[in-house]
Amino acid sequence: MPRLENGLTLLAKGYAWLPDVRRRTGRRAVGVRLGGLPAVGIEGPEAARFLYDEDHVRRSHAIPEPVQGTLFGKGAVHTLDGEVHRVRKAMFVSLLMREDGIASLVQRTTSAWDDAVPEWTRRPFVVLMGESAQVIAGAVTRWTGIPLRDDEVPSLARDLVAMVDGFATGGPRHVRARRARGRRQRWLTELVHDVRSGVTRVPEGSAVDVVSKHRDADGTQLSARVAAVELLNIIRPTTAVAWFMAFSGHALIRWPQYRERLAGGDPAFAEAWAHEVRRFYPFAPFIGGRAPQQLEFGGEKIPKNAMVLLDLYGQNHDPELWDSPYAFRPERFLDREIGEFELVPQGGGDPRTNHRCPGEQITVALLSALAVRLARLDWEAPEQDLTIALHRIPARPRSGVVLRVNSTV
Ligand code: HEM
Repeated sequence: MPRLENGLTLLAKGYAWLPDVRRRTGRRAVGVRLGGLPAVGIEGPEAARFLYDEDHVRRSHAIPEPVQGTLFGKGAVHTLDGEVHRVRKAMFVSLLMREDGIASLVQRTTSAWDDAVPEWTRRPFVVLMGESAQVIAGAVTRWTGIPLRDDEVPSLARDLVAMVDGFATGGPRHVRARRARGRRQRWLTELVHDVRSGVTRVPEGSAVDVVSKHRDADGTQLSARVAAVELLNIIRPTTAVAWFMAFSGHALIRWPQYRERLAGGDPAFAEAWAHEVRRFYPFAPFIGGRAPQQLEFGGEKIPKNAMVLLDLYGQNHDPELWDSPYAFRPERFLDREIGEFELVPQGGGDPRTNHRCPGEQITVALLSALAVRLARLDWEAPEQDLTIALHRIPARPRSGVVLRVNSTV
């Protein structure tokens, strides 16, 4: 398994790492090193198409241990290839990509937001990122059928945020992420055992029910631990929509001219907002896997077993794809079809068959609905540090976006 650290340059430069090498060399495909291994960084719709061909890139044995030990979990769908991947992925698609399921999750989450607002008005200030994480974590966890008391929500939200926050660093954030993963895997492993033995009853067809019963391509049931990993692969990334809420708060403070239009609730504009937030702000830096054979892309030789990295942040700011890419302009998505391999904050291509994120509709639906609520809320932003450091992966506004909430409007 490759190590993560050689990323001395990666750690120092973060999101600017691959774009800087491309700028320096004037090439779309650049040879670099990651974790001591040769790697090739690529970018653009053709590059995305190239990466999603399984003859070009395999995921097993490609994801560094520190990322599996915090972000994805060991044995996760992210690390599978071929038929084994397709059968596991079909489980996620059936749970996450149904319109009625998405609508009920949005309904639960917006109600949880509305319930939280009166309490926010009684406090001197709230931190948008943390509050959003609690609202979403409580709602999505109950939506999956996992039993959860109200008093368990804050610590669960903290753990889910920690797992995302600590995957790309060696410091205390990483230690927190590993501890959080250990705690939550143990909790859900026990739940899966109890569901299987009938000690705990969960709703038929809920994610807990489906994941507990799922059989892999070889006909075997998931181990309780892997079932716990995959349940976390639903509730953790959904809670991570809190990052996009913090970015939405950042955007409303920086470009207040959009607040009224967003508050108007026009679904087309709210969706365009969600797309622009996901395009403009840095979150997932790149995705990748290993080349199973010697390959070539964009004039760059890719040795067998080298890592192939698709630069998501770079592609979302490619001037050939996006007019004035460093301008925040939600309108750009009002009159534009989005090609399958163009907007890639959550991967590209067809999520039903490849590794693209199966939670993209959920992300857009939740973000659109919550951003409209944020725009409607009566708040002011006190003086604070809203810097988003590009060397920190995952990036976030430093203050977490502090708001003084005035009334429940
Ligand atoms: C995969 C980003 C939300 C579940 C991915 C990938 C990215 C990503 C970049 C990898 C794509 C690839 O390797 O080709 C994000 C971001 C999100 C988000 C930025 C916003 C917070 C969600 C949500 C869910 C989810 C809401 C579930 C409800 C997954 C799963 C995979 C995945 C299960 C693995 C898919 C596979 O390997 O086949 N996501 N995601 N994500 N995401 Fe998301």
